[in-house]
Amino acid sequence: MLKKPEDLRSARWFAPDDLRSMGHRSRAMQMGWSEEDWQGKPVIAIINTWSDLSPCHHHLRDRADWVKRGILQAGGTPAELPVHDFAEQFLKPTSMLYRNLGAMEVEETLRSHPVDGVVLMGGCDKSTPALVMGAISMGLPFIFLPAGAMIRGNYAGQKLGSGTDVWKYWDERRAGNITRAEWEGVQGGIARSYGTCMTMGTASTMMSIAEAFGVTLPGASSIPAPDAAHKRMAAACGRRIIDMVWEDLTPDKIITPQSTRNAVTVAMATGCSTNAIIHLIAMARRAGIPLGLDDIDAIGRTIPVIANIRPSGTDYLMEDFYYAGGLPALMQELGDKLDLSVMTVSGQTLGESLAGARNYNADVIRPLTDPVYTEGSLAVLRGNLAPDGAVIKPAAMDAKFLTHKGPAIVADSYGELKEIIDDEDFPMTPDSVLVLRNAGPKGGPGMPEWGMIPMPKALLKQGHRDMVRLSDARMSGTSFGACILHVAPEAFIGGPLALLRTGDIIELHVPNRSLNMRVSDEELSQRRADWVAPPPKYGRGYGWMFAQHIEQADKGCDFDFLGTEFGAPVPEPEI
Ligand code: FES
Ligand code: MG
Repeated sequence: MLKKPEDLRSARWFAPDDLRSMGHRSRAMQMGWSEEDWQGKPVIAIINTWSDLSPCHHHLRDRADWVKRGILQAGGTPAELPVHDFAEQFLKPTSMLYRNLGAMEVEETLRSHPVDGVVLMGGCDKSTPALVMGAISMGLPFIFLPAGAMIRGNYAGQKLGSGTDVWKYWDERRAGNITRAEWEGVQGGIARSYGTCMTMGTASTMMSIAEAFGVTLPGASSIPAPDAAHKRMAAACGRRIIDMVWEDLTPDKIITPQSTRNAVTVAMATGCSTNAIIHLIAMARRAGIPLGLDDIDAIGRTIPVIANIRPSGTDYLMEDFYYAGGLPALMQELGDKLDLSVMTVSGQTLGESLAGARNYNADVIRPLTDPVYTEGSLAVLRGNLAPDGAVIKPAAMDAKFLTHKGPAIVADSYGELKEIIDDEDFPMTPDSVLVLRNAGPKGGPGMPEWGMIPMPKALLKQGHRDMVRLSDARMSGTSFGACILHVAPEAFIGGPLALLRTGDIIELHVPNRSLNMRVSDEELSQRRADWVAPPPKYGRGYGWMFAQHIEQADKGCDFDFLGTEFGAPVPEPEI
């Protein structure tokens, strides 16, 4: 049954004939609104992450106008509300420190304003989970409009992929193989339009995951940011959200255990960023779905990587993926590995929404019978070094390290690590395991993307381009290599990683999903007795609150008090 105008949430602000509502109406009129704007019409929040310091979201100021056009066409009233920009490339110490702050901002912005439905606009790494997490917790009907990826990079006739090619060219520069001028050519050619990174980094991964969850309109996650289709998609989101409000199509009808499974499945098939694991868990838990690392690993074992996009794939980028049919084509290739009966924001089931999808390039979107990598993108490891789990990306590393044994070289900070990798006389071999600790959620703080530890200069000059690296940090979704990440519990709070010493033998066995240090239990208890907790990173402010409430990587790094199980649901504000 459709909602009636008098049942609109915004009507509680604008409709009553009383003192407070008169104030709301007079202040709406102060902005030029008239009765036609509020009476019987849904008010739609456009949550905008545009800023002058967000290159990935630079077009969203313009796109908000296209969303507004759609809202007006369909008989609603748009209200653009700015939130944090989540500018991955500029935020220090790391944007991850602010994902939960952003999610809280979205939730409370929606709760406190007279709005009935929401269009979320974002896409740069943390923005998608932050926006979606906040909107799930608020519970109003919402559509996510992905910012879309930028066009392909280009330098000297070479196709360049965001992040991925920066790391590659940096290794060559450190090895002395390219000149400064060439390096600057890459700098000028790798980011040529607005939009997110165009590799299958965290941004493209998370936008794809949002579509697989059913919270975007069909195909929205693959449209390149500068394509005119992106404007049309923006307007379509504006039109559709009005229907969603009348249908009362709230997120609990869309984010379900079935759609969560679809989201994990699609993530694995795209060759997703390692960050996806943390965000998937956090998003699902916001909806009260207890997704864990082992659930993800189990799905990963059965789903091959079929998107041939860097860094897991060899050649292609997101623009190629769009031309090949984009995410709908990939989901169609997955067929019955997805639950096609789930509802999406389009008002159709996932199966219905995929009806017109076609794969136009079977080298970019591979059939299941000819995958890029035979298992899913990621694997979860456990052992005495990571009792609560760690993550590795077998799809984007040298396969010879899938089973490995080697001595640890341990750095307690990024500064210490940098000295080691730049010191050409530091004793190490290609079998050494470079370890960085105190870079987790509390230790980093915010779990920075330091996990793709740069290759040591000495090994680069010997011709090596990969080695086993290990940390409690994350790595960029555009990264690659034999990097063990997200070790939990982290060293800063006394996880076993804190007890590791240089020279200890580390054993990695990806097929068995194991990660151990060969140190006896007696020796470990001795070391634990000697361990001294490092001093806290913050004495006041947001960082202090973050440290009090941040959960470990295996729980999705949300704040404990934002989980559904923490307390009774927040009541609607009294008016
Ligand atoms: Fe924004 Fe990569 S920096 S998506
Ligand atoms: Mg990134």
